[in-house]
Amino acid sequence: MKFDFNYYNPTKIYFGRTALDNLSGELSGYGKTVLLMYGKGSIKKLGLYDKVVEILKNAGKTVVELSGIKSNPSYSQLLEGVRLVRENNVDLILAVGGGSVIDCAKGISVSAYCDEDPWKKYWVDFKDVDNRIVPVGSILTMAGTGSEMNGGSVITNEDEKLKNGRVFPPQVNPKFSILNPEYTFTVPAYQMSSGIFDTMSHLMEQYFSGDDDNTTDYILEGVMRSLIHSAGIAVKDSQNYEARSNIMWCATIGLNTVTGLSKEQDWEVHMIEHQLGAYTDCAHGAGLAAISVPYYKYIYKSGIDKFVRFSQNVWGINTDSMTREEAAEAGIEKLGEFIKELGLPSTLKELGATEDMLPLIARSTIPGGGYKKMNSDDILKVLKESY
Ligand code: NZQ
Ligand code: ZN
Repeated sequence: MKFDFNYYNPTKIYFGRTALDNLSGELSGYGKTVLLMYGKGSIKKLGLYDKVVEILKNAGKTVVELSGIKSNPSYSQLLEGVRLVRENNVDLILAVGGGSVIDCAKGISVSAYCDEDPWKKYWVDFKDVDNRIVPVGSILTMAGTGSEMNGGSVITNEDEKLKNGRVFPPQVNPKFSILNPEYTFTVPAYQMSSGIFDTMSHLMEQYFSGDDDNTTDYILEGVMRSLIHSAGIAVKDSQNYEARSNIMWCATIGLNTVTGLSKEQDWEVHMIEHQLGAYTDCAHGAGLAAISVPYYKYIYKSGIDKFVRFSQNVWGINTDSMTREEAAEAGIEKLGEFIKELGLPSTLKELGATEDMLPLIARSTIPGGGYKKMNSDDILKVLKESY
């Protein structure tokens, strides 16, 4: 394992109740035409749409809109955005919403001036970005993915039944992201929990691999503890600003690459969930919740020391009188209890999966893994356990 790394994250973060005040200053750095992107209407209910449009108007911008971005954004919506960017010569894409809107904005940003088939180039062949990148800014309304401070873009190609994600270089990250935890007060409980578990999963995907004495693992343990603590408050009191702030910031740093520096990583739970999502269109974090406990039970013996450490340092379990297996399993049990406390499903059935989908999901999932190298048969076993 190497301890050499380059770290560069150019996203400017404005965090807090008055974060939106910084939007007009940011807008002055870009040309006249803004593509305003949002989802299916939550920003209107929140009153945020009117505020943003007013700020854009006062800044003298010409606004083109792309609305209705669905959860698990589709490639056809991305292509619609490409058309709008090219036809209107858009200078800035402003994404207002959760991970789906921001991911789609980044996808449009790299695809608008791509001369090849963008899906094949970027989400199948994973080629480098060598064409013009349209800058993206974001206003986050739902915590979970970390998309506001990374280059990730997960897109569903509905025709091909593939949900593929990739991480673009930092030049594709949002140039700025506005994070006001109050915006998340209106997120429905199930979506809030789904976002919380998505963050927890990002932290675990980075944690459960590699055995070096690495500062990053200590950071991960700290962020997991903070997230679990604040999640416990937010599920009872959804308007608790302090808890929602902590959750939002845990989500951002949980996938802005700082918690993965110089670490081997796993990501198999995410690979499985993405294909589960392609078949069921389930909420991303809910899908992760249903897969995680069976997956970790399946692999823990290949990395048992880290699982014991997880029990001790993340869940605070006294493992003195336990065998190593018992100590490792105790942390996974706690994870299962956390999923229940969040009110998330623990089976794939609850997410709309049917038994005949399982082999199809297994076959189309990219095999990988951390402590244990997974193949399609292993993935199918985990899916059956999760079912
Ligand atoms: O569409 P609207 O009306 O805006 O409603 C959304 C949507 O229904 C709603 N919502 C968002 N903010 C709200 C709100 N409702 C009320 N009040 C608010 N303030 O919440 C629902 C879910 O939104 P979505 O953006 O889909 O959720 P999330 O942030 O979890 O994003 C999920 C997508 O991100 C990808 C996932 O795979 C999925 O496609 N991911 C992106 C990653 C990245 N960029 O690094 C990494 C993740 O692992 C993940 O794969
Ligand atoms: Zn995720």
